[in-house]
Amino acid sequence: MKKIIVGISSSIAAYKACDLIRLFVKEGYSVHAVATENALHLVSSLTLEVLSGNPVHSAQYSRDRREMGHIELKTDASLLLVAPATANSIGKFANGIADDMLSTTFLSVTCPVLIAPAMNPAMYGHPAVRDNIARLKSWGVRFIDPDEGLAVCGDEGAGRLADINKIFRASVDAIS
Ligand SMILES: Cc1cc2nc3c(=O)[nH]c(=O)nc-3n(C[C@H](O)[C@H](O)[C@H](O)COP(=O)(O)O)c2cc1C
Repeated sequence: MKKIIVGISSSIAAYKACDLIRLFVKEGYSVHAVATENALHLVSSLTLEVLSGNPVHSAQYSRDRREMGHIELKTDASLLLVAPATANSIGKFANGIADDMLSTTFLSVTCPVLIAPAMNPAMYGHPAVRDNIARLKSWGVRFIDPDEGLAVCGDEGAGRLADINKIFRASVDAIS
């Protein structure tokens, strides 16, 4: 059974990760969710846990674990998919910052990494975000470009999380 780590950061689109996890589980993948602590304000740990069938990794220093979570997680993973990826988390990945479970996992894995950004169009077009994405691409990290359209905030442009079926297909392609 192939193992997929699904990273979830705190975009308003975080709830869509739930449907994505269901698609992976339905297709027989073993799914391990890694959520930023901010993401857990937008989608519940319990929901992610029930849908994936596995404990959710979020806090780095959990009292009930003796293992080193990020190291343990990377073992045998076929893919790290980050969906949705915030500007903040993308910035951490591009700069080697490892101050939470998701960014530490990003640095720890040796499997392919796929990132599906989701953010306001102005944020997505900002030179800081553009540079961070270009840097990650130069390291071989793959991206699923966001869709264009009306953002939740009312702005128009590119930044909406790509359709989850598209993300699902790209993920399956990346590991087959
Ligand atoms: C309701 C809400 C929705 C948000 N949506 C987004 C988003 O779609 N994309 C984004 O980059 N940041 C978004 N943010 C801002 C991030 O949550 C913020 O930058 C946070 O520090 C990112 O933390 P994380 O990367 O650790 O999850 C949103 C914030 C709130 C309160």
